[in-house]
Amino acid sequence: MIDLKDLNETKKIARKFIKFLEQGDIVLLQGDLGSGKTTFSRFLINQLQSKNKLSMSEVTSPTFNIVNYYEVKKNNLQVAHYDFYRIKKFKELENIGFLDQIQNFVSIIEWPNLIMKAIDQYLVISFFLNSKTDERKIKFKGTGKWSQILKNEFK
Ligand SMILES: Nc1ncnc2c1ncn2[C@@H]1O[C@H](COP(=O)(O)OP(=O)(O)O)[C@@H](O)[C@H]1O
Ligand SMILES: [Mg+2]
Repeated sequence: MIDLKDLNETKKIARKFIKFLEQGDIVLLQGDLGSGKTTFSRFLINQLQSKNKLSMSEVTSPTFNIVNYYEVKKNNLQVAHYDFYRIKKFKELENIGFLDQIQNFVSIIEWPNLIMKAIDQYLVISFFLNSKTDERKIKFKGTGKWSQILKNEFK
């Protein structure tokens, strides 16, 4: 567990991950409402854009439209930012073509529980908020290439 004292801590953690992100990667963000998932997504997307000399997009929660897309590298890397809070059945994800297009993006997914069993390589970031003290913590877990990256970067 890592303490997140403020927004700047979240930004720093997001920055640590951007150099490892490649097309087809899947980042799952778990945690209650208000724990910081969209904020982390915003820092991740904006820092990728800034590193690749693109202007920074306004990153908003995809709660209502399920997915928002962002160009993060000219003619190349795109991020698909999902929020599956309103998705109740795996079938609905098949209907929106989620699995068919996953290879074309870096996918960042809030409320990912429904899909965890359908994919085998992912990074999971869990956010914890103590609403009494407003303290936040974060925890990482990864499969495939991510287990090695976590061992090296967050030991
Ligand atoms: N590390 C942090 N320190 C302080 N406040 C934070 C932090 N991360 C997020 N917040 C604040 O918490 C609120 C909810 O964050 P948000 O990212 O929308 O949560 P979620 O997407 O998990 O529902 C926002 O007002 C945001 O600015
Ligand atoms: Mg959110």
